[in-house]
Parts: sequence; structure tokens; C-alpha cells
Amino acid sequence: MSWANLIFFIVWVIVATAAWAGWSAAPWVPSRSKYRKLFLGKINIQPGQIIYDLGCGTGTVLFEIAKHEPNAKIIGYEISILPYLIAKIKAKSYKNVSVRYGNLFKQDLNDADVIFVFLLTKAYERLSKQFAGKIKDDCLVAFEAWPIPGNEPYQIIREEDILPIFVYKGSQFRK
Ligand SMILES: C[S@@+](CC[C@H](N)C(=O)[O-])C[C@H]1O[C@@H](n2cnc3c(N)ncnc32)[C@H](O)[C@@H]1O
Repeated sequence: MSWANLIFFIVWVIVATAAWAGWSAAPWVPSRSKYRKLFLGKINIQPGQIIYDLGCGTGTVLFEIAKHEPNAKIIGYEISILPYLIAKIKAKSYKNVSVRYGNLFKQDLNDADVIFVFLLTKAYERLSKQFAGKIKDDCLVAFEAWPIPGNEPYQIIREEDILPIFVYKGSQFRK
């Protein structure tokens, strides 16, 4: 394969996986630092807990949680190859962060204590079905920006200037 073909192939993979992510659940848009700090101040993450970020992008949420609670186990899933590789490389500096290449809709989340979601609402119906069969009753699921239509949040976290956080318990997905 020539260099030109190789570069074309790499660019194609980056663009195709980014397009797949945008079509599937959301394009890569990182949460703001102010938002991450608010989330961590309100959701009490304990040592030993297992935390997921579904669609982790470059891992900014994962690493903030890891600094806040070094004894939690933090896992991110990502399908867009470029943010995935950036997160994977950065995760080497954190012993408690694992970045996995995979479709967030196909993961087994039954050990989750906290799940973080920042995706478009088009993903919510599929996610709600996924959670209904798979997560613990007391697992906390934090949705950034938009609530789930027809499902009253257990807690709403609001602060000026940033997107709200809608928190649900696992049991709320089994109605
Ligand atoms: C709005 S960004 C949120 C990034 C990160 N969670 C944050 O808050 O900074 C959504 C991420 O989900 C990823 N994504 C979209 N569909 C996905 C899927 N089916 N499986 C895994 N990741 C996906 C996108 O590539 C993107 O990085």
C-alpha cells in the first residue's frame, strides 16, 4: 500500500467512525469542565464503585472522576476512533480507568453503580430498554442536558450557565 493510500484509509476510518457515532447516538462534544465539577459535587462517588461513561469521547469525564475518587473503577466506551485513541493513550496515566472500543448499546452494565450519559435524545428509547433488563435497582444514571420523556427524574441538578443533569435510579427503568 502506498503512503497516499494509507493516509486516505486512516482519514476514511476516522471520518466513517465519527459519522457512525453521530448517526448512532451523538457526535463528539465534550462536557464542560464546570459541568463535570458540578456532577462530581452532587453525585457521591464512593471507593470501590464502578462508573461508566457511555460514549466517553476523549475521556475528560473519566479522568475527572478518577482524580476525584482514585479508588473507583471507571470504564468508558467509545466507537469514534480518534477520540477513542486519545482517551486510550491518556488512560495509561490512570490505574483505575479503562477505555474500551465498543458500541455503548451492546454492553453489559449489570455491575454499574453510576452511569454517565451525554447523548442525543434519539438514543434514549434504546438506552431505556437496555437499562431495563441490565442495571441494578440502585444504580444512578445521570443524563446531561435532556430528561427521558415520560420518566420523572429522581433528582435534577441545575446551576446557572450549564446544562442540567437529570438523575434516575435503575429501578425507574423497570416500570
Ligand atoms: C456528546 S459526546 C460526550 C463525550 C463525553 N461523554 C463527555 O461528556 O465529554 C458523545 C460521545 O458518544 C460517542 N458515541 C456515539 N454513539 C456511540 C455508540 N453507539 N457507542 C459508543 N460511543 C458512541 C461519540 O463518538 C461521542 O464521543
